Amino acid sequence: MKLLVVGTGGRLGAALAREFKEYDVTGFNREQLDLSNLDAARGKLRAISFDVLINTAAFTNVDLCETERDRAFLINGKAPGVLGEVCNEKDAKLIHFSTDYVFDGKKRAPYIEEDEANPISVYGESKLAGEKNVLAAGNQHLVVRVSWVFGPDRASFIDAMIKRAHENQNVLAIADKFSTPTYTADIARMVGHILDHWSRRASAPDGLGASRLQGILHFANAGKCSWQEYAQWALDCCHDAGVPLKATTVGAIKLKEMVNWVARRPVYSVLSAAKCAELTGAPPRAWREAVADYITRFYSKK
Ligand SMILES: NC(=O)c1ccc[n+]([C@@H]2O[C@H](COP(=O)([O-])OP(=O)(O)OC[C@H]3O[C@@H](n4cnc5c(N)ncnc54)[C@H](OP(=O)(O)O)[C@@H]3O)[C@@H](O)[C@H]2O)c1
Repeated sequence: MKLLVVGTGGRLGAALAREFKEYDVTGFNREQLDLSNLDAARGKLRAISFDVLINTAAFTNVDLCETERDRAFLINGKAPGVLGEVCNEKDAKLIHFSTDYVFDGKKRAPYIEEDEANPISVYGESKLAGEKNVLAAGNQHLVVRVSWVFGPDRASFIDAMIKRAHENQNVLAIADKFSTPTYTADIARMVGHILDHWSRRASAPDGLGASRLQGILHFANAGKCSWQEYAQWALDCCHDAGVPLKATTVGAIKLKEMVNWVARRPVYSVLSAAKCAELTGAPPRAWREAVADYITRFYSKK
């Protein structure tokens, strides 16, 4: 099976391109495939052969999307539809990544795939447009929504918190916004299960038909937390791993105190990965375990 990963300059794309050694993997970063030029992207993709395209490329700066609406809708909205069309022409499958920010955050129980999306930011709106365009382009395509992605290939919230705690005695994080940190290595493992089913390398768990691995799927590590709890756990893991830090506790701030943020963010965007676990036969591990693993691998000084 030939895989094409788009967005390999980013956090998730780099992790995925590294992972699937048993397949023939090609990766494109932004220079190699610029999604803001739809005709050029279409032409380049038509000229090459692949069985599965995995799209991780996106305009991910949530605040900048508010002021660059056209760019957000081009890259996050229209371009995924073009990828879907090209995949359809080739009878290839598309795995397209989306976000928990398609929800408004008013629910207080994990969002399932059937919950109505109601974005409250341009980023969320543009990503929802991308989902719809992908699913309209081909009925075998898969949209995978993930939340709070972290991993070694590009710094994210967790790395910023550790850096801050390394340099300062006081560290603060938002205590009234909830979702689930999700490790790129665990996303890669989940995608690996899907690819194995598609290439018939794995025996399908009960109820799994190839036809069910399409449409929308939610994936996140298990559990939920606030950003303050996430940051505190990261510092606790650093402490256990012997990473020198000036701060050991994370103080609380409120979402409404983030006056410099331009875009609105959902206060609750926990995703239920139950359907994904049922279909792949592989439930995700707890977010605390995933964070501890990441810190041991990439920060440990012991
Ligand atoms: N990060 C999160 O917490 C999070 C949460 C929920 C969902 N997601 C979704 O997960 C996916 C992967 O996110 P990530 O964390 O890997 O984000 P990322 O690190 O920002 O990676 C996105 C990549 O897309 C590339 N890109 C931007 N504009 C492009 C264009 N015009 N043409 C081609 N490539 C372009 C970026 O290029 P440069 O390298 O040049 O910047 C970057 O390499 C995205 O769909 C995102 O919406 C992320």
